[in-house]
Amino acid sequence: MCGIVAYYGPDQAYDFLIKGLQRLEYRGYDSAGIALLNGDLRIYKNKGKVSELENVAQGQNLSGTRGIGHTRWATHGEPNTVNAHPHLSQSGDIALIHNGIIENYDTLKKVLIERGHEFKSDTDTEVLTHLIEEIKEQENVDLLEAVRLALNEVVGAYAIVILSKNDPNTLIAARKGSPLVVGISDREGEFYLASDATPIVEYTKTVTYLNDNEIVAIQDGKMTIKTIDNVSKSPFIQELEISLDALEKGGYEHFMLKEIFEQPKSIYDSMRGRFDPQNLTFAMRSLEEYASKIKNLDRIIIVACGTSWHAGLVGEYLIEEFGRIPVEVEYASEFRYRNPIITEDDLVIAISQSGETADTLAALELAKEKGATIYGICNVVGSSIPRLTHAGAYTHAGPEIGVASTKSFTAQVTVLTLLALGIADIRGKISRERLREMFAELDTIPQKVEELLQSCNEKCKEIAAAYVDAPNCLYLGRGYNFPVALEGALKLKEISYIHAEGYPAAEMKHGPIALIDEEMPVVVIATKRNYYEKVLSNIQEVKARKGKIIAIVTEGDEKVAEIADHYIEIPDTEDCLTPILATIPLQLLSYYIAVMRGCNVDQPRNLAKSVTVE
Ligand code: AGP
Ligand code: GLU
Repeated sequence: MCGIVAYYGPDQAYDFLIKGLQRLEYRGYDSAGIALLNGDLRIYKNKGKVSELENVAQGQNLSGTRGIGHTRWATHGEPNTVNAHPHLSQSGDIALIHNGIIENYDTLKKVLIERGHEFKSDTDTEVLTHLIEEIKEQENVDLLEAVRLALNEVVGAYAIVILSKNDPNTLIAARKGSPLVVGISDREGEFYLASDATPIVEYTKTVTYLNDNEIVAIQDGKMTIKTIDNVSKSPFIQELEISLDALEKGGYEHFMLKEIFEQPKSIYDSMRGRFDPQNLTFAMRSLEEYASKIKNLDRIIIVACGTSWHAGLVGEYLIEEFGRIPVEVEYASEFRYRNPIITEDDLVIAISQSGETADTLAALELAKEKGATIYGICNVVGSSIPRLTHAGAYTHAGPEIGVASTKSFTAQVTVLTLLALGIADIRGKISRERLREMFAELDTIPQKVEELLQSCNEKCKEIAAAYVDAPNCLYLGRGYNFPVALEGALKLKEISYIHAEGYPAAEMKHGPIALIDEEMPVVVIATKRNYYEKVLSNIQEVKARKGKIIAIVTEGDEKVAEIADHYIEIPDTEDCLTPILATIPLQLLSYYIAVMRGCNVDQPRNLAKSVTVE
């Protein structure tokens, strides 16, 4: 995601733009830029934070009562000055800023290049700017109609704002899948636009939130709204009564909770445009480029740390089940120092939200030195790991501010699922029918996560209250749910400071069962497709020693639900997709316990969001 601001009114736009971008920096901070219109159209933009943009703008002509501004979270094109927004059309007369992903930018770009367009950046956004001008000229229509026609050719998500040198009294904005709010000033003909209301509320609390497929046009001081199908709409105008701090967290108490609830979108964005469930095809450039390598692979090594290492374990199960290739999952910190055996035939995959974790980076450098092909699954575009790897796939989860990884974990597992299916497809290890089944089920996951968040949230809060003072906690799971048990335990440990351990459920008899007594809560993932009867026996063993059972079960479960002290139901899904769903209640459980213990949920003690030192 990114931050968008725009101003149209009697005042100079610059101050509002800069202050607004600073307020929105939590949404992305790869680069920042503004465009100001006052007769001429001037662009100032720079890699890095808004403060660096201010340095660039210092001493420049900052006049202009129409302006747009953008702080970027890159998805296509390195975070650098050229790829920073705003982007200009071929003639330089139109400037555009964008939040989202234009999925079919490649196709549109090829057509525009054939028509003589030249592009300066590697972004998807610049293509839309050129497309609007191309349509305006070819169809001989005004800017608003050109935007409307162009958006009908776009596949993907967008919140955009456009200025044109030839239309000095016009500002146009539109949204589909990315947020955009319009602030309406008490002063006639004055409007503030932004990705959320944080830059706006100090100027006006009168706002209207644009809906998907709507275009807002401010022309000669008047605002109108229409759909991309050319249907006029009346804006729903409301008075905001919310604090600035609450706005940054989207109304949630902490960034962690906001990011837990963002998972339907972050999971969808991690899949977006990467497979076609009808044609049973993939659209992952790395799979295409390395298909021959994948065909002849003997082994895959996954290196990561913390939560990303847990995602790697899920990846091992996925790739071995579907791709039928041996997979080793290594703690990066161990791998880098034990002089591992790596050959040119190996594919080494690094998983890292930040793309900056020192141990993971070092492990990858070692693998590259030894001739392996290295692949990255990261969330931060242009971070060190993606810049080092031969290929990779971004998770597109958006900025994760909470130190505890939540949406990045489920996004990593989503990408690993697609990778495993893609590897299986290339190696001829998966039938068309099975691939169709998997794609169909993957398509339902974002909605299942949304329903689960609504259905289990209150129950997690209730259960959390019963275990706020637990001295320890055990997490058990089998198969795909074993890594989930590890992840659940890590979540609890790192934000509530309660000692917690995750174990393969069958492993309990080899030691941990000695810990079980009436003081020990045991979280067991007992979903019906993951060794259900065996996990049921493990639960009986805990009950026999008076342990307290908190079970994660498949909706409609009766057996486990009958004997557990508490149970949380999750939607049924493929065995291999269970980790994405089963993790959700564990995230919420740890969150509420930590909040009730008065812990600093977003910045837990001793922890950093990115461990860039050994
Ligand atoms: C998990 O909640 C922690 N944030 C931590 O374990 C994290 O997963 C680990 O430091 C790896 O970070 P990375 O994904 O940015 O490489
Ligand atoms: N896809 C666009 C880019 O990579 C916009 C990203 C964003 O939302 O910041 O520049």
